[in-house]
Order: sequence, then structure tokens, then C-alpha cells
Amino acid sequence: MSTQVSPAIQDIIDQVKVDPIPKNYAADNAAKRKEITRTFISDTMTVPSEEMLTYATKATLGDDVYFEPTTFALENHIAQLFGKEAALFVGSGTQGNQIAIRTHLKQPPYSLICDKRAHIYKYEAGGPAFNSGAHVVPIVPANQHHITLEEVEENIVLGNDVHMAPTELVSLENTLNGTIFPQDEIIRICDYAHSKGIKTHLDGARIWHVAIETGKSLKELCEPFDSVSVCFSKGLGAPVGSCVIGTKEFVARGRWYRKMWGGGMRQTGFLAAAAAFALSHNFPQLVKAHALANKLEAGLEELGAVILSRAETCMIFYDPAPLGLDFEEIGQRAEALPEPLILGGSRLVVHIQTAEQAIDDFLSLIRQLAEEKRAAGWVPPTANGHAASALKDVYVRRKVQMTK
Ligand SMILES: Cc1ncc(COP(=O)(O)O)c(C=O)c1O
Repeated sequence: MSTQVSPAIQDIIDQVKVDPIPKNYAADNAAKRKEITRTFISDTMTVPSEEMLTYATKATLGDDVYFEPTTFALENHIAQLFGKEAALFVGSGTQGNQIAIRTHLKQPPYSLICDKRAHIYKYEAGGPAFNSGAHVVPIVPANQHHITLEEVEENIVLGNDVHMAPTELVSLENTLNGTIFPQDEIIRICDYAHSKGIKTHLDGARIWHVAIETGKSLKELCEPFDSVSVCFSKGLGAPVGSCVIGTKEFVARGRWYRKMWGGGMRQTGFLAAAAAFALSHNFPQLVKAHALANKLEAGLEELGAVILSRAETCMIFYDPAPLGLDFEEIGQRAEALPEPLILGGSRLVVHIQTAEQAIDDFLSLIRQLAEEKRAAGWVPPTANGHAASALKDVYVRRKVQMTK
């Protein structure tokens, strides 16, 4: 059989060829590995370790639309770990949440209730409205921490008044902005929702952190919910992947939406293997990440910054205004350090690849900037000024950053 091609075809073959990996990829990747140890923007930016990548190459090579063995084994492990019947591997946390919402909601009109700061409401591009035709009723928690049963009761829509969109789903998030939703309140809300025939979903992208911090099992934490979505690509440090978890029937239906939305991936084994590596090797490292977050919070408080949202797990929101500083100035000076620090704004995220040195350097920088301000005649505001800043929306982004 001749495999000779015409000059025209050879020309096309040459046009198609590409080698996007830079020649100095090893140095580039080493720089990226260093950079992430000093990046406080998000735990989504963690990079796969060499060991994770090596392990991933051993994965099976099936096609996941027809059940890929490594992926299927991961799904079964996750289902068992969370005490539910089945799980579905999906490409992202957003896809997991959107599939879950779409699978629960059948025939509009309907609405869903969530916290006003929830990812599904603020950062999923209006997905519940677009994908599921759902009216979202966002609640601002009066306690500035988590929504309560009383607030759900106040906002729930029951009955068949044609003016209203009945509540068919309550969606909670744990952690939310790094804070832990009290389990007894979750149980109260979910019991109440179920007593009214309303489904419950948990965006558990960072539920791992709750288990590490509270000692409660993942099964116990998720028992009150009909469905859960969890992420491997945030605190756990895998490159890609999430799971939607629920009953067999729910997951089978969700698989349909995954396909419809273009999320039916093929040889996913290496992605599932990377996620499995993250569960086995990275999950325990959250203990250290949380300890570093506590150190960071204590250091900031000692310097006189206001803590807007505490380091219950891996995130801190702070306000440097009492020191005469703003995020733009801090961010620019941090980037100008001989070993730069990368900052997003009021939110500081500590992750499994954060170096303790980065925390020390950040606190030294704040101390130095505050001293410079005082030397330039800065007078701290009154206690009232501090209190007012604590009531602001906690997530102030630097203008230059587009982060989640
Ligand atoms: C709480 C929460 N849920 C869902 C998501 C969405 O995950 P993804 O970026 O994988 O779509 C994020 C992303 O950071 C998140 O923080």
C-alpha cells in the first residue's frame, strides 16, 4: 500500500503541524511552580505536580461517553464516599451545578433559593435562568455568614398563585467564601425544604475543607442533600474535573444533560486519575493550608487590618483601610518585590501550594507600607470608620484582576 501523498496534500499536512510547547517549557513550568507558591488569588490556580502527572499517564484509555474504566472507578468511589448511589464526572464545577439544577427542575415556572453570594447566582453567567428557566431568589444573610431556616421560610414560594414562581430547589454552598455552614442549620433548612416537597442541592466545590476542619465525614456533611457537586480542581489541586452526586436515577438523567451541553468527554481516564491522585495525596495537605491561613489572619490583625471574613478554612477577606492602604497599592508593591507576590484584592486564598515564606513576605510588606504611611503623616480613622468598612461587600477585587 502506497502512502505517498501529492505535493498539495503534503502542503496541507505541513500547514496543520504545530508545536505549541515553548522550547524553554521546563524553565517556564519551573517558574509557574514557583509563582503559584506566592499567588493568593485562587486555589483554582494550583498546578499539577510531576507525581500527579506521572500517575495520570497510567490511566485506562476508554471512552467516557461509553463508561471509561478509571473514570467509572472514580465515580463509584465518590458515590460511596459521599453516601449516595451514583456520581458523574464532569468538566467543571459550573457544569456540575448547572447539570444538577437542570436535572432537579422539570417544568417552569419555578424558582430556586440561594445565598446572594452563591457561586450559582453570582459567577455562573446567569446559568440557572438560561439553562433551566429558573427564577433565582437570592437571600442576603442577616448574620453576614450563612442563611437561616427563618430566611428560607420568609422567601419560599408555595401554593399555586399564578403570580408567583414556586420554589422547587434550595441550593446551599459549603464552604461559601471559605466559611463553614453550620451543619445543624443545614439540617434544619433541608428538613424543612423536604417537608414541602422541595429538592436540595449543595455546591460543595470546597466541601473537602469542611471535613478537614470539622472532622465530620463527607457522607455526614452531605446526607441532608438530594444532590451535591464537588470539585477536584480547587483546594485539591487537580487540573480539571468535578463530580455531580445523587441517586442513580438523578445521575442517569444528569448524564443526558452533560451530553447535550457538550460535556460528554472521551478519553477522560488521565483526568480522573489526576483527581484520584489529588484525593489520595493532596486532601491531607489542607490541614497545613488551613494552618497557614490562620497564621495570615493573625498577622494581619496584629498589624491593624480589619478582618472582614475569618479564616475558617483557606480564605480570608480583609480591609487594609485602617492602615491607610488600598488593594491597588498593595497589589502593585507586591508585584514589584524581587520575588513577586500575586494578589487579587480583599480576598486572600491559601492553598496546598502556598509557601509559608509567601505569608511572611506578605505580612512584612503590609508592615512596611503601613510604616511608610505613618511616616508620611497618615492618621488612623476613628473606630466608627473601621466598623463601617466591615459592612461593605467583602469581596473587593482589584480592577486589573478577573478571578473567581
Ligand atoms: C463555590 C464554587 N462553586 C463552583 C465553582 C465553579 O467551578 P469551575 O470554575 O470549575 O466552573 C467555583 C469556582 O471557583 C466555586 O468557587
